[in-house]
Amino acid sequence: MRYTINILTIFPQAFDSVFSQSIIRIAQEKNLLKINFYNLRDYTRNKHRKVDAPSYGGGGGMVMQIEPVYRTLAKVKRDFSSRKLYVILLSPQGKPLTQSLARRLLRHKNLVLICGHYEGIDERVRKYLVDEEVSIGDYILSGGEIAAMVLVDVLARLIPGVVGKKSSVENESFEKGLLDWPHYTRPQRFKNWRVPQVLLSGNHKKISEWRKGQALGKTKRLRKDLLRT
Ligand code: ADE
Repeated sequence: MRYTINILTIFPQAFDSVFSQSIIRIAQEKNLLKINFYNLRDYTRNKHRKVDAPSYGGGGGMVMQIEPVYRTLAKVKRDFSSRKLYVILLSPQGKPLTQSLARRLLRHKNLVLICGHYEGIDERVRKYLVDEEVSIGDYILSGGEIAAMVLVDVLARLIPGVVGKKSSVENESFEKGLLDWPHYTRPQRFKNWRVPQVLLSGNHKKISEWRKGQALGKTKRLRKDLLRT
């Protein structure tokens, strides 16, 4: 099953280096993910291709206008004819991005990500054009592009077939509501720093118990908030 992510942005080239490497590249090469860019400036009707205007009510700051967003979305809809699109606005007001939110978003095969800019985006975009708002954290980015890259990365590695081993995604931090257990690899001893003996024992039951204990202990120490739910 192929997923499509359509990104509406005034900086499509900002995505080049991130999307041409690692997992996102693999997802595209395996034809499991198609990423399309729509430059909001291509859908403006003014000579300077402006997508923003001063805020009504004053107070300074520029606001991204609804028209270019509306027109760009209309183009995506035409390109997708009857296929259903799920429209996401990246914004600090959105639902915090978590592993479980990402899994829910992945139920939609055709996503649209709108990257806002300036002081904000005309509220009517939110109200009439968007299905869901997503935030990547409680801080303000200068635009939605970096947030969109984060979201695409999180989604790409959850697409079945992208990451080699299913278990390597399922055992990660947050997937079971816990942080991941510690990992070690060769050499067994570096300086005088050693790999825990239990991992070399070959006793799978013991290893599994140790890992669960470590994951729980780490979570209690570092992220108590995860245990409260
Ligand atoms: N745009 C600006 N800040 C953002 C954030 N924290 N998350 C998502 N989009 C944003």
